[in-house]
Amino acid sequence: MNNIKEILNNRAEEVEKTLTEIMDLTDKEIAPTLTKAMQYTTFSGGKRIRPVLSLLTAEMLEGDLKAAKKAGAALELIHTYSLIHDDLPCMDDDKLRRGKATNHLVFGTGTATLAGDALLTYAFEILANLAISAENKIKLINLFASSAGYAGMVGGQVLDLKAEQRKLNLSEMKKIHRAKTGSLLKTAVLIGYYVSESKQENKHALIKYADNIGLVFQIVDDLLDITGDTETLGKTVGRDQALEKSTYPALLGVEGAKNEAEKVANQAKKALAIFGERAQVLSNLVDYLLDRNN
Ligand code: IPE
Ligand code: IPE
Ligand code: MG
Ligand code: MG
Ligand code: MG
Repeated sequence: MNNIKEILNNRAEEVEKTLTEIMDLTDKEIAPTLTKAMQYTTFSGGKRIRPVLSLLTAEMLEGDLKAAKKAGAALELIHTYSLIHDDLPCMDDDKLRRGKATNHLVFGTGTATLAGDALLTYAFEILANLAISAENKIKLINLFASSAGYAGMVGGQVLDLKAEQRKLNLSEMKKIHRAKTGSLLKTAVLIGYYVSESKQENKHALIKYADNIGLVFQIVDDLLDITGDTETLGKTVGRDQALEKSTYPALLGVEGAKNEAEKVANQAKKALAIFGERAQVLSNLVDYLLDRNN
């Protein structure tokens, strides 16, 4: 486990460099407040788990690591936009994100909304300029659009809002978590696949892995909202209960949700079987995701 933390930190640092490069927006900016707002949340200290996953998957498949980092960084911009919008008063109405005041509290709701919009569109500009085959680039663009949009993250966010003050069953709950959180994590893993010359069979295994870690990730996020502490987490705990959100612990209790996370984590690891020893890091990552405290 110590080793995995070291690997994750090291890869996160690499991703940070790519993000710094792509977020130097001074050349073309026309509204400095907007670029400041975009940079504010991007560089407020995220774990970078999505681009790190892209990089680790590409490493396992011996793919193009430079392209993995760039596409992973583009995905991190979409993730950052989703957080800025998720925190808005019309959504989860949060005051703290990554240990800092939320974007709208610093820049106002108008600029925060637009900073999210600009991060989303900029991500596609980065992708369009990726130095990989045109065929794989189009597949990636398609994947980004579908996983971020109405049938993915945004669709899931709507279901999440609609599920406030309601008691869902487990399959409805899974549907929300898969869409709002799982879809971007799946894209993170598939970036690694599309920057590598890997066989179709591997893609299926990776999708299974990603689908399960998507669930683990959001179940643990829901648990941390109850069992975590605000300072370590960088966001205010107890918000889910205050908003009467539909979460795994609300449905199954804390212990029940923990058991479910472990079960799904084991399924994620099983999906890696066809890669043998080469998947050790991706497998250890699952344990890290289960044990994380932020
Ligand atoms: C938080 O994501 C939002 C969810 C999808 C659960 P992360 O836990 O990856 O947040 P950062 O990027 O590290 O801040
Ligand atoms: C949000 O889930 C998932 C996103 C698509 C941003 P949450 O609302 O639980 O995320 P946090 O806890 O605010 O980070
Ligand atoms: Mg939310
Ligand atoms: Mg939220
Ligand atoms: Mg949460």
